[in-house]
Amino acid sequence: MKILLLGKNGQVGWELQRSLAPLGELLALDRHSTDFCGDLNQPERLAQTVRDWRPDVIVNAAAHTAVDKAESEPELARCLNATAPAALAQAAADTGAWLVHYSTDYVFNGQGEQAWQEGDATGPLSVYGQTKREGEQHIADSGCKHLIFRTSWVYAARGGNFAKTMLRLAAERERITVIDDQHGAPTGADLIADVTAHAIRQAMAKPAADLSGIYHLVASGQTSWHGYASHVIAQARALQPAPALKVGEIAPVPTSAFPTPARRPLNSRLSTRKLQQAFGLVLPPWQQGVDRMLREIL
Ligand SMILES: NC(=O)c1ccc[n+]([C@@H]2O[C@H](COP(=O)([O-])OP(=O)(O)OC[C@H]3O[C@@H](n4cnc5c(N)ncnc54)[C@H](OP(=O)(O)O)[C@@H]3O)[C@@H](O)[C@H]2O)c1
Repeated sequence: MKILLLGKNGQVGWELQRSLAPLGELLALDRHSTDFCGDLNQPERLAQTVRDWRPDVIVNAAAHTAVDKAESEPELARCLNATAPAALAQAAADTGAWLVHYSTDYVFNGQGEQAWQEGDATGPLSVYGQTKREGEQHIADSGCKHLIFRTSWVYAARGGNFAKTMLRLAAERERITVIDDQHGAPTGADLIADVTAHAIRQAMAKPAADLSGIYHLVASGQTSWHGYASHVIAQARALQPAPALKVGEIAPVPTSAFPTPARRPLNSRLSTRKLQQAFGLVLPPWQQGVDRMLREIL
């Protein structure tokens, strides 16, 4: 099997380099790659990469993920999140390849408290969410075989993440404030990459099952940013009792306490029943991956 990976150095892309390696021949690109174009800002050249290298599977882990910045550069966000996936999807349809792509809880408007199902009406609140939704639609319209995984609150041990920021603030301050009215599930890039590899194997092995479609892929359970921060700080204290984290109070605050250019959905809960049933997989509780990541970074 030949697999083309785009966005190899992102949180998810980095983990995909590991999880996809045993599946076959892997060509992993980033925007600076020279032998083949891996730049989402050049959709036509990207499609040419597919036509020249002829992968069986294209995995697109690249995107415009700077949610607030996207508000002031919508054309670039649309090119990376919608036009480039459309070009990839057309090339996949033309060559018979599968396209694996990632989308987001930000396609929803965040109302209510129920976990969103794949078929629920979307209603993005931001340029990022809108352009990611357009990307989903272009892929579906192309008719290519595809797996679109909507995920949320992604973290990885490598690079910066919310947990590291909370630990830094907890070491510096006696009181920190954290948003408590946005709800979702912190999801490890390693889990996303592992599920992706399993899903590709199954989709390729059982073509008649027609597994093509959109799936929600997040860790099990739910929390708020405040619950997440509280868990991280408690775990850090349990793992490293000696060095004192200064923080005494973790105060819950509403989203309005941290104004940002892009609006965030309050309800980012995603139901993963469809994914678990279709692929026979179990998604572990969010604390499991977070605790593992903490053991790696502390
Ligand atoms: N992070 C989250 O919380 C979250 C939540 C829901 C869904 N998702 C989705 O999950 C997927 C993976 O996200 P992630 O967290 O791994 O994001 P990430 O760490 O920000 O990685 C995104 C990657 O895209 C690359 N990229 C940016 N512009 C590019 C271009 N013009 N051409 C090629 N590559 C380009 C970046 O490369 P550089 O390093 O060179 O900039 C980076 O490696 C994305 O589709 C994202 O929308 C993420």
